[in-house]
Amino acid sequence: MFLVANWKMNMTRALIDEYLDVLSESSIWGTLDGSRIRIGIAPSHVYLDHVVLGIQNRDLPIIVLAQDVSTRTSGAFTGEVGMPNLLDIGVKGVVIGHSERRRFFHETDENVVIKTDLSLSADMVPIVCFGESGSQRKRGKTFSVVKSQIEPVFKGVKKARERGITSPFYLAYEPVWAIGSGQNATPADIHEVAKYVSEEFSWPDPPAFLYGGSVSSDNIRSLSSLGDLSGFLVGSAWLDPHALLHSADLVRQLNRPVREGVHVK
Ligand code: 13P
Repeated sequence: MFLVANWKMNMTRALIDEYLDVLSESSIWGTLDGSRIRIGIAPSHVYLDHVVLGIQNRDLPIIVLAQDVSTRTSGAFTGEVGMPNLLDIGVKGVVIGHSERRRFFHETDENVVIKTDLSLSADMVPIVCFGESGSQRKRGKTFSVVKSQIEPVFKGVKKARERGITSPFYLAYEPVWAIGSGQNATPADIHEVAKYVSEEFSWPDPPAFLYGGSVSSDNIRSLSSLGDLSGFLVGSAWLDPHALLHSADLVRQLNRPVREGVHVK
């Protein structure tokens, strides 16, 4: 299972050091050795370098992901952070198309496809987020929204696979109504969307799904038992390193086979 803490626009250098110290002092790592659990952290861009170094210095087997990447790779694009920048500092993955970027910063499906392709080509693990809003769900639009978001991504992944690119690829179902609301999607909600996305498109390899939206230590066990899921993308609950460790331990105890692993390089 791939467990990713999305810190969003939170944390400070001091808090990050405390967080990594808590992880480093934990005895969990021995028990995770040989398990299928991989942990990722997605800090804001400004702390990526600090987190990469902090993890290396503490010898923690954690993957660092960016919360976004530019569609451009270099040049006169003030304020952007490109894939070569992320690679240069040792980032291994990138969250793409998060609903907060779609809602507040005009992220488009076209950009999501470009960013996914850049990630796969750079052997950087992409986590492509998708999901419907509460009003879209109420109006029975869940599948049509999911289709419009996933179809272009599917075509891009297919082309990348045809070009011989085999890097791991994750989809993260994050229904907007479940994010930060305390109301997680039920296993049945997640299953019907995962089933739809798996069956509607002829993926070159079966997609690996993460779920995000009000995941906590209280619900992670029941959500983990869902065979469709390969992990979680978690915001507020995992701003607390103890909660991340507790969740990792709960998921480890289930010892469930998962669809795809991520290599820690
Ligand atoms: P919460 O876990 O705070 O609901 O956020 C989920 C999310 O957006 C992860 O990317």
